[in-house]
Amino acid sequence: MLDPIRVAVVGLGFGAEFLPIYQAHPRARLEAICQRNASARNAIGDAFGVHKRYASYAELLQDPEIDAVHINTPIPDHAAHSIAALEAGKHVACTVPMATTVEDCRRITELSARTGLKYMMMETVIYSREFLFMQELYRQGELGRIQFIQATHQQDMDGWPNYWPGLPPMFYATHCVGPCLALPNLDAIAVSCVGSGRIREDLSKHYGSPFAVESAHISLSDGETAARICRSLFDTARQYRESIDVYGSKKSVEWPLVDGESLLLHTAKKPENEIPERIACPDFAHLLPAAIRRFTTSGVYDLQANEHLSFTQGSGHGGSHPHLVHEFLSALTEDRDPYPNARQAANWTCVGLLAHASALAGGETIPLPTFTRQQGAQNA
Ligand SMILES: NC(=O)c1ccc[n+]([C@@H]2O[C@H](COP(=O)([O-])OP(=O)(O)OC[C@H]3O[C@@H](n4cnc5c(N)ncnc54)[C@H](O)[C@@H]3O)[C@@H](O)[C@H]2O)c1
Repeated sequence: MLDPIRVAVVGLGFGAEFLPIYQAHPRARLEAICQRNASARNAIGDAFGVHKRYASYAELLQDPEIDAVHINTPIPDHAAHSIAALEAGKHVACTVPMATTVEDCRRITELSARTGLKYMMMETVIYSREFLFMQELYRQGELGRIQFIQATHQQDMDGWPNYWPGLPPMFYATHCVGPCLALPNLDAIAVSCVGSGRIREDLSKHYGSPFAVESAHISLSDGETAARICRSLFDTARQYRESIDVYGSKKSVEWPLVDGESLLLHTAKKPENEIPERIACPDFAHLLPAAIRRFTTSGVYDLQANEHLSFTQGSGHGGSHPHLVHEFLSALTEDRDPYPNARQAANWTCVGLLAHASALAGGETIPLPTFTRQQGAQNA
């Protein structure tokens, strides 16, 4: 059994958020960091007291004192970096999405299965306090039967560099797909999507993707439930929002419309004006080892001040970061699959990739590849 697990964090923009969590977690040792830019690498290494610092990811993978890598590099590199790590014998945690092609999702899934090495896609929304609250209500039978789930992720990425300009919205869809599938614990079996609106020519030329908004319907593996997701990245006015609404036969929960408001709980069979009520979302820090509980309420790290700042939805990601780290490390020490594992990550990521293909094909329904779906009966 690996204990402690020696972890390297690769890519230190968003990735830096996770350094103090690994340092505080009782089952981990933050062994190394990796970033190509020397000044940023050394500033972060000094701030966190990490002595082993790699400029080259390939060299890091040769280090026998590293058991697992947590990859936070740019989206187009996720697949190649995950594949290289698995081939080098390292367990992998990778930020979303898993890959930008169905074929790369297949390669990672097959590699993880063949090597027995763990792969976890670090999807923040499914470890946010709002999602954990909905999941708890569902598992306690409070929602009744889930009749429908919808999720959105709207963000204005205008002006972001490198690979961002014109990125098809559904290429980065796991923040909406993940909760729709994780809440009922089902796979996606088919998706159809329509594109709406138009983005500027200087954006659309990069990926040949014209749509301002892509909205998709997903059929789930119980054969009865459907979900709807909506994404926008450019030329659409909206405050940053990741949202999940779940509609149950007994109770439904809706995410607030704007940041800072409370969740809405709807209860069936009440007088109309008593159906909705605003409710406070509890924190789920008690699920974590005491040493990392504080990170559920402090998501944004201020390097200058060397301290954590209070979170907002979208930056602190609903207190999800310590839950993600804990799930990954627990899976390694308990020798079980993390959630989501490679196959599930492939299912979620391919929903987005195929949704975009569907939008380009005028809304055609596209089945999810079988390698992304649990074989046999519906999921447990
Ligand atoms: N909620 C979420 O799940 C969430 C939130 C923010 C970012 N992300 C993801 O995290 C990733 C990083 O986002 P970011 O905003 O920090 O991007 P960024 O471009 O600011 O940072 C990427 C980092 O990777 C480093 N890097 C790139 N190639 C490398 C290589 N070959 N070896 C070592 N280091 C390398 C860069 O130096 C940089 O530090 C993206 O894929 C993004 O989608 C996810």
